[in-house]
This record gives sequence, structure tokens and C-alpha cells, in this order.
Amino acid sequence: MAFTHQHLLGLEGLSRDEILFLIDTADSFKEISERDIKKVPTLRGKTVVGLFYEASTRTRTSFEIAAKRLSADYVSIASSTSSSTKGETLLDTARNIAAMRPDCLVIRHNASGAPHFLAQRIDCPVVNAGDGAHEHPTQALLDLLTIRDHVKRLDDLTVAIVGDILHSRVTRSNVHALKALGARVRLVGPPTLLPAEAAAWGEVHNDLHDGVRNADVIMMLRLQRERQGRNFLPSLDEYSRYFCLTRAALSAAAPNAVVLHPGPINRGVEIASDVADGAESLIMDQVTNGVAVRMAVLFLLANRARQPSVEAPAVAAEPAEAPRLRRKAG
Ligand code: CP
Repeated sequence: MAFTHQHLLGLEGLSRDEILFLIDTADSFKEISERDIKKVPTLRGKTVVGLFYEASTRTRTSFEIAAKRLSADYVSIASSTSSSTKGETLLDTARNIAAMRPDCLVIRHNASGAPHFLAQRIDCPVVNAGDGAHEHPTQALLDLLTIRDHVKRLDDLTVAIVGDILHSRVTRSNVHALKALGARVRLVGPPTLLPAEAAAWGEVHNDLHDGVRNADVIMMLRLQRERQGRNFLPSLDEYSRYFCLTRAALSAAAPNAVVLHPGPINRGVEIASDVADGAESLIMDQVTNGVAVRMAVLFLLANRARQPSVEAPAVAAEPAEAPRLRRKAG
């Protein structure tokens, strides 16, 4: 098995074997982070650029750590200190970075489709580090690796994904992967935070206790408060009363159920502190596995020979914020 794609733009369309190959490759990188000297020469002489147009703690830091543990040079660019503040377009920024011959470009952007847009226009592997409400493939891969570490399987699992499904790129990537791997998916949340297509992704529940009943894995989502301007919820208090994962709600899940959350967490809003910090919580394991997953992805893509871009029409518009699942990932 080999990963033959030039980019990692999403998990939609990847086969079960490709997803398992990515997870297995990540698994093999885990032990490097447990060493005294956490560095191998695998990507010596390679350059990775991280271009972050949205805030990030875990993803940005772990890509940088992953690159450095593989001996790649890592350059981090935040939109707030880049020439995008002077009006430079995303495409011009990316073309200028590509002209410096990096071996991989990692991008986070608030517009769904931004990584796909660039991947068609620059001759450098592109990794999607989260685009709008579309996909966050490395997050789903680290979620799956963490589940497999603890539950010891990825098929014959019932996974309840709970909360702000509508705005969640984490959900979309996980749904694609979990379905490819044969897991049963439940989407749990208030009707206003469930997209119309949720019924096609899995079982839909509007009641937290019903949604988590006998689930093996509960994946809690951050309530994306920055996107709540359109009255998706009557109030934060009401949301937490019905959808906060408390110890009482967790008791409905399967014995030995595990709890995940991509972070950052809103304590007391979507998850109670004693659950977030409890024995069932794998939140810190997810963060640890994030480094291994990003090492695997950089290893598989940055070693690739440069390939010419498939240039799209010059007049194509830059992607706008579109909080919907793209029908077709590039
Ligand atoms: N899970 C996640 O993407 O976290 P950050 O926004 O901090 O990167």
C-alpha cells in the first residue's frame, strides 16, 4: 500500500485502505516523540510552510513540531502579520511562497475550499489544516488513531458526534472516514445546528441521552460561538442544559465508552469539567497523537517530487466562506 495523492485536502473519497495506511504510518511515528532526542533526519533539507488564516493552537503547533522532529525547516506565516493585511490575495500569497520552493504548504483558512483552490494552482503539495466548515483531515486521522489505541478497533463501533454539527469541519472529515471504516455514526444536536445532509451521514438525534445511549465513542464538538450570530440558539444556558456532556449523560453510554473533543473546549458549555478531565477523556491523547499524524502526512507528501499544477482559469474567483460540505473534494 502507498499513499499516491499529491495533496491531503480531505478524507472524502479516500478508501478504507488509504485511511488505514495514514493511521498506520502515524502509529509508526509515535515512538519518536517518546525518545530523549526527538529528532530523525527523514525530511532533512525539506521546507514546510504553515500558512494560517485562522487562529490555531493545536494544529499549528503540532505541524511545526512534526516538521522539526523530522528535521525539516518550518516557516510559520500568520495572516495577521502577512501582506494579506495590505490587500494581497490568497493566490498571490501562495504563489509567492511557492516561488521559494517549499516542499509542502500547510494551510488553514476560514473559506471552505481554499486548500483545493491553491492545490490546483501551485506546484507544491498542499495539506488542509482546516477549511471553513468543510474538512479537517488531520484532526479526524488523529481522532481515529486515538480511538484505535484505546478501543482496539475502528469497525463495529457506534460513534456519537455531539454538538455544533452545522459548523464542524471535524465532523465532516470524521463522517467520511468512519463510514469508510464501517462504523455506525450518530449526529446529535439541536435541529438548528444539524445540516440538512446530516440524515445521509448517520442516525440523527435531537436528545443527548438518546444520542449517546450505548455509544462506544462520544465525540464532543466545540460550540462555535463566533458563528452564532444568526440565532442558531435561544441562549448558551439553554444549550448547555440540554447538550453539555455531564457525568449523568455519560452514564447512558456503553461501559468503557471514551470521550473525545478536538479542542479548544468550552468548559461547562458542551462538556463538564469533570468529564473533560475524567478517566474516560482521551482529549490529551488526541493532542499527543496529532504530532504523529502530522509527521506521517508531511513524510508522505514532502518527499514527493514536484509536479506541475493543473492551472485553473485565470479569472476563477477566490473561494468565499461557504459553511457547507463540498460535494466533491479535489
Ligand atoms: N483541534 C484544532 O484544530 O485545534 P486548533 O484550532 O487549536 O488548531
